[in-house]
Amino acid sequence: MRQHVNPLNRNFKVIEKIPPLIEMFGDSKLNLHLDIGCAAGQFLFDLALVNNSWNYLGIEIRERLVKTAKLKVQEGEIKNLYFIFGNANNILNDIQCKFIIENVKSISFNFPDPWFKKKHYKRRVIQPEFINIISNSLQKGSLILIKTDVKDLFDYMDGTISSNLNFKTIDKKDFNYSGSFNPNKVKTNREKYVMDNKLEIFERIYIKN
Ligand SMILES: C[S@@+](CC[C@H](N)C(=O)[O-])C[C@H]1O[C@@H](n2cnc3c(N)ncnc32)[C@H](O)[C@@H]1O
Repeated sequence: MRQHVNPLNRNFKVIEKIPPLIEMFGDSKLNLHLDIGCAAGQFLFDLALVNNSWNYLGIEIRERLVKTAKLKVQEGEIKNLYFIFGNANNILNDIQCKFIIENVKSISFNFPDPWFKKKHYKRRVIQPEFINIISNSLQKGSLILIKTDVKDLFDYMDGTISSNLNFKTIDKKDFNYSGSFNPNKVKTNREKYVMDNKLEIFERIYIKN
């Protein structure tokens, strides 16, 4: 399977039909967490099975991974987990998907593709316009969490989010994990690999003012 997909490919301009929350989840009133670039969704399966007071939504650009994840949700009859296929930027920029950002309590970007070459920076999922759109619809007190093992990408993402005046940083030591979408500090697949290889992880949490 292709590891890197160019998100700017025009095939991703057409987005799949996104159902309302009431059709995505058994109880659409639960707190909602969105994971962007969720790959096969293992992190979200691990979370959804343990924390049944949260709904989890994953967006992933590799279609085959999403198809398999959707099938697993169906087979497992998991009511608090839903996956969407496509480029998260196009999906969340779309006016008919505004309700997603309006309803999320938190959004994670875990180990996004770094796109190392400067000419490819525009393929990075975090972009100033994207953060602007998110910040306009996100409820006060909602969170964005970023994690990566690439320092240059961290600086870029941190600079982009911090330059939006609607967000301020929360110190990790003041963060209430037990009340969050991830009370047991479940790790993503990439995070486990990075930890096994003793690489450094750069992370930050932002709150909407
Ligand atoms: C390095 S992987 C990290 C996967 C997972 N979050 C983890 O921590 O193990 C980055 C993922 O983001 C997906 N991705 C990249 N750009 C995307 C975009 N614009 N929209 C949705 N998914 C994207 C990739 O296909 C890939 O699965």
